[in-house]
Amino acid sequence: MNAPTTSLPGGTWTLGNATITRFGYGAMQLAGPWVMGPPADHDGALAVLREVVAAGITHVDTSDAYGPRVTNELIAEALRPYPESLFLATKVRANRDAQGGWPTARRPEDLRKQVHENLQSLGVETLDLVNMRMGDAEGPKPGSIAEAFETLVELQREGLIRHLGVSNVTTEQVAEAHGIAPIVCVQNMYNLAHRHDDDLIDTLAADGIAYVPFFPLGGFTPLQSDALSGVAVRLGATPMSVALAWLLQRSPNILLIPGTSSTAHLRENIAGAGLSLSDEDLADLESIGH
Ligand SMILES: NC(=O)c1ccc[n+]([C@@H]2O[C@H](COP(=O)([O-])OP(=O)(O)OC[C@H]3O[C@@H](n4cnc5c(N)ncnc54)[C@H](OP(=O)(O)O)[C@@H]3O)[C@@H](O)[C@H]2O)c1
Repeated sequence: MNAPTTSLPGGTWTLGNATITRFGYGAMQLAGPWVMGPPADHDGALAVLREVVAAGITHVDTSDAYGPRVTNELIAEALRPYPESLFLATKVRANRDAQGGWPTARRPEDLRKQVHENLQSLGVETLDLVNMRMGDAEGPKPGSIAEAFETLVELQREGLIRHLGVSNVTTEQVAEAHGIAPIVCVQNMYNLAHRHDDDLIDTLAADGIAYVPFFPLGGFTPLQSDALSGVAVRLGATPMSVALAWLLQRSPNILLIPGTSSTAHLRENIAGAGLSLSDEDLADLESIGH
């Protein structure tokens, strides 16, 4: 499970008993439009996943809800037998309905079912990391997460989950979960233009807990801003490279899971994320989040 050294930008981070590359990959965009159904280019999706591993990336983020089952099954098809170093992070609670909606699995038995579905579609006996995804499409919602989180803790005790995380959560919910059982990461929306979690990131860094921003490039509508383009032009880089480099430079506990369905974009993102941003670059980028 260890990947102690890497030439990928950002180096490595140790999560529980696993050392993984900070430059990871988010598989959600491999499913069909709006994360429903199969990809238009099945072989192209497999090629992206194989390129991820060939590039030395050891952290892949997915969920059985993507497709549903589509990204997990693509990962299994492309990558089994899994390399020893590969760390597969999945998430539960967000579910799918036939219309493409994201209903929430609330009952303990439904969360258990989701964990078993992830085990089956990924073809593993233990899940490296399960994030409990709270809130909704609009973001985190306040309230206790204890009952749902305790169900995951039981599944961890049963040996089905190695590490626990929480996603789309408030700062209070992070503290509540961590008071019940150790969490190794928080996965919330964060990027150059959405910096609500700045204080949380710093607190987690002090506690040695990873922060994994989802939509690091802006998600379904990739980031666009004059300031971002200006810095990119000055550095001779792409705006996406600058956005990823900014995240890596923002805090050592930030792990990247940018999504792409294109091997060309994957290579471009890996090549660009190691950019060193100067104080002038950072000052220019500051305006985007405010
Ligand atoms: N916990 C949660 O609630 C939650 C929610 C959403 C997502 N996630 C996770 O976060 C991961 C990342 O999110 P995401 O993939 O939706 O958003 P993202 O990484 O912010 O952006 C992906 C988009 O950027 C484009 N892109 C990537 N590289 C590019 C490049 N070099 N040039 C131009 N466009 C580029 C992709 O298009 P191409 O395919 O054309 O490259 C895709 O449309 C997901 O895969 C998923 O694992 C978690």
